[in-house]
Amino acid sequence: MQRAVFAHITLHDWTQVFSPLRIQQCCLKYRGPLHLSSRGYSVLPPPLDSEEKAMLDSMLRVDHAGEYGANRIYAGQMAVLGRSQTGPLIQQMWDQEKKHLEKFDEILAENRIRPTLLLPLWNVTGFLLGASTALLGKEGAMACTVAVEESISEHYNSQIRALMEKDPDRYIELLKVIKEFRDDEMEHHDTGLEHDAESLPGFWLLKNAIQVGCKAAIYISARI
Ligand SMILES: [Fe+2]
Ligand SMILES: [Fe+2]
Repeated sequence: MQRAVFAHITLHDWTQVFSPLRIQQCCLKYRGPLHLSSRGYSVLPPPLDSEEKAMLDSMLRVDHAGEYGANRIYAGQMAVLGRSQTGPLIQQMWDQEKKHLEKFDEILAENRIRPTLLLPLWNVTGFLLGASTALLGKEGAMACTVAVEESISEHYNSQIRALMEKDPDRYIELLKVIKEFRDDEMEHHDTGLEHDAESLPGFWLLKNAIQVGCKAAIYISARI
């Protein structure tokens, strides 16, 4: 199985996985001043105190890590299935993930929030998860998509609930971003189901295993 994964991955893909420059490029790409709302900030309000700063830093760090991991999963799927009939569908979802990551790159840079130290780990594990499930065929790739996107949607929903409980008006811009991305992730989840994810033998087992991994990644990325 592992040999088969390696056989499908080109030299270019490997340089993408292990290039420190690539990791650096994914982090903190500051592209000049962001569009400011009438409130005078783009997405995050200036923190009231150190407690709020820590809460928002952790929240944004894990969101950035999740979008980074999602990008690497779709990169792995494309390395295996890019030239198949499913390629354009995966590319379409990947393009949306690129926009999500770009937005969190901007938010982190603008607010001087450090990304998780584990990006190199999510870089490699994300790519290998995407590539290895894609080797099971289109259904394997879609099963992975269903599992990951369900986890990310639930994660965004819990953040939306937390921000709404705290102060929906204060976090209005951040809520807009998270709600929009949550809707995209739910669409990706539904796309996976529509494209036969559940017909993969052992679907529920694979889905549960991937979701345990996602929960662990979320827990760790919020802290490190
Ligand atoms: Fe995303
Ligand atoms: Fe997604």
